[in-house]
Amino acid sequence: MKQIKLAVIPGDGVGVEIMPYATKVLDAVADLHGGLKFEHEWYPYSCEYYLEHGEMMPRDGLDQLSQHDAVFLGAVGNPKLVADHISLWGLLINIRRGFKQTLNIRHAKQLRGIQPMVTNPGGFDLIVVRENSEGEYSEVGGRIHSGEDEVVVQNAVFTRKATERAMRYAFDLAKTRKGHVTSATKSNGIVFSMPFWDEVFEQVGQDYQDIEKRTAHIDALSAFLVSKPAEFDVIVASNLFGDILTDISAAVMGSIGIGPAANLNVDGTHPSMFEPVHGSAPDIVGRGIANPIGQIWTGKMMLDHFGESELADQLLTIVEDVTESGMKTPDVGGNATTGEVSEEIISRIKQLT
Ligand code: NAI
Ligand code: MG
Repeated sequence: MKQIKLAVIPGDGVGVEIMPYATKVLDAVADLHGGLKFEHEWYPYSCEYYLEHGEMMPRDGLDQLSQHDAVFLGAVGNPKLVADHISLWGLLINIRRGFKQTLNIRHAKQLRGIQPMVTNPGGFDLIVVRENSEGEYSEVGGRIHSGEDEVVVQNAVFTRKATERAMRYAFDLAKTRKGHVTSATKSNGIVFSMPFWDEVFEQVGQDYQDIEKRTAHIDALSAFLVSKPAEFDVIVASNLFGDILTDISAAVMGSIGIGPAANLNVDGTHPSMFEPVHGSAPDIVGRGIANPIGQIWTGKMMLDHFGESELADQLLTIVEDVTESGMKTPDVGGNATTGEVSEEIISRIKQLT
């Protein structure tokens, strides 16, 4: 029996509404295999936890989570209770950095039955490889003086190691797909880090002669992603650029509620973390209409991560069968609830056994 030990953190908002269904879906998929079982332990780390304990997770939180094979996270954030920079840095970024999850991988593709938000989708299927540990999201900088004399400095940090790692992962991934990589740059405006980024792309690319290489400035690339998404295969991007591109690519699919993501620890020293692209969606919380597909597809990426690609593909096929049948939440043009969509997915999985 292959057991995968999951640390489940529903987090805040719609994360709490979706997670019970997403774990049920994963259990149903594991039953298809016969020899696979998810063991889940639930952790209450969230903004409510913060109000009670004064921190987003306990001091030994990372130690506790490290007992598991992976972290399955819903969403973090309740800006009415806790400022976003406290909740995100206290939990999400704490885990990403503490567990050296140096890459963030986000898949976007045209799903059957979901109207993409663009006029020319062309059956797009792309993956963004985002550097997840440094770049523009750094803690280097500061503020001095106040009033009209105030000065603020925020530095971006790029290391050769992390930059190369992201590029190499993107090229290796492209080998298993359509065979091209686009690098997101802005070397015409950002004159130190981005020319460096371009150089590393060029250098690492020399080890991948068969892969087609493209470079595009982030502004033009963002527009292209909307006008011609099918032209992309793998996109490699810095932390900030990747963050923005993946919200765009999720929206291009039809809703931010369906985008999946993986935070990978590539050296295998710590658990990886799987979380959807969307946040806690405070504007729709409590109505039971959050789209569960982002979380469920994230579970599919987790299955891939643990070498269960066949099950993973079966799961995504069933998700698309369900969306094609018209059973959809309102964000993608349907009138079903989170529970109805999830239960339909579960019942179709069970029909396969
Ligand atoms: P958001 O992703 O929560 O919401 C953006 C829009 O998408 C909203 O209109 C929301 O209703 C919709 N949406 C999101 N998820 C959906 C779903 N599953 N089904 C249907 N519609 C969905 O982003 P926003 O509003 O900027 O942030 C809200 C909170 O979430 C903040 O506290 C923010 O810091 C946090 N956040 C957390 C993230 C994470 O945990 N990884 C990522 C992004 C934001
Ligand atoms: Mg984002």
